[in-house]
Amino acid sequence: MRYALVMPAAGRGTRFAGELPKQYARLAGRSVIEWSLQPFLADPRCVVAVVAVASHDERWPVLTPNLHSRSAGARLVTVLGGEQRCHSVHNAIAQLSQHGLGDDDWVLVHDAARPCVSGEEIDQLLALLASHPLGGLLALRVTDTIKRDDGHGGVAETVPRGPLWRALTPQMFRLGVLRDALDAAFAAATLPTDEAQAVELWTQAGRGRPQLLEGSPDNLKITSRRDLALAEAILQRRLARGAA
Ligand code: CTP
Ligand code: MG
Repeated sequence: MRYALVMPAAGRGTRFAGELPKQYARLAGRSVIEWSLQPFLADPRCVVAVVAVASHDERWPVLTPNLHSRSAGARLVTVLGGEQRCHSVHNAIAQLSQHGLGDDDWVLVHDAARPCVSGEEIDQLLALLASHPLGGLLALRVTDTIKRDDGHGGVAETVPRGPLWRALTPQMFRLGVLRDALDAAFAAATLPTDEAQAVELWTQAGRGRPQLLEGSPDNLKITSRRDLALAEAILQRRLARGAA
């Protein structure tokens, strides 16, 4: 089995409010994006890794040569990101046919801001979705009681949490499915916030559904400074066990 990695890394990290975009924050001796890429670059099944970066990104060219030497097979390719995450992903998947990928081949999309993804999660996705017609995503069941507000800070209602999940990455879809779904979303003037949303909209025409797979709570997204401290603790624990 082989796949392409697409990594959207063109965000500004507004909520993180650091000196640098959060993907370049220091984390357990490396930058966040190095951790996010590492399990894919070490995986011989990953044939190409396309990273979407912002046009004025000065850090990425400094890191790239270093990353090439850690790759077990994947060729590292850089593309320009777009206005929103979905545009960055769209620009990246447009490169994949040049790298020998066909419509039925798999694309894993993973946020640059998720440095604690594990090799086990990637193995689980690839194993459980291998024969799926569309693909799916890692997600976490919602555990808190969920309230909907009335627009003024009052509680309008409690939302049953039974069927609710939080979407994580990697999200894994067949190249043709992801491309057609993103094209259809843009044609309908919709900007999906993850790949599954694009595929959900596209499959309303009765083409099946993306599959939810339970991921790890450790696979957090760095949004604020506090998340960086949590990620540091997770990675230091893995380093101490010799598992990072
Ligand atoms: N991303 C991207 N292109 C954009 C916006 C986001 O490639 N135009 C990437 C980010 O770099 C990140 C991932 O999408 O790896 C998830 O986005 P998010 O967590 O929202 O990161 P930012 O947009 O950078 O943060 P913020 O929303 O706080 O500005
Ligand atoms: Mg954002």
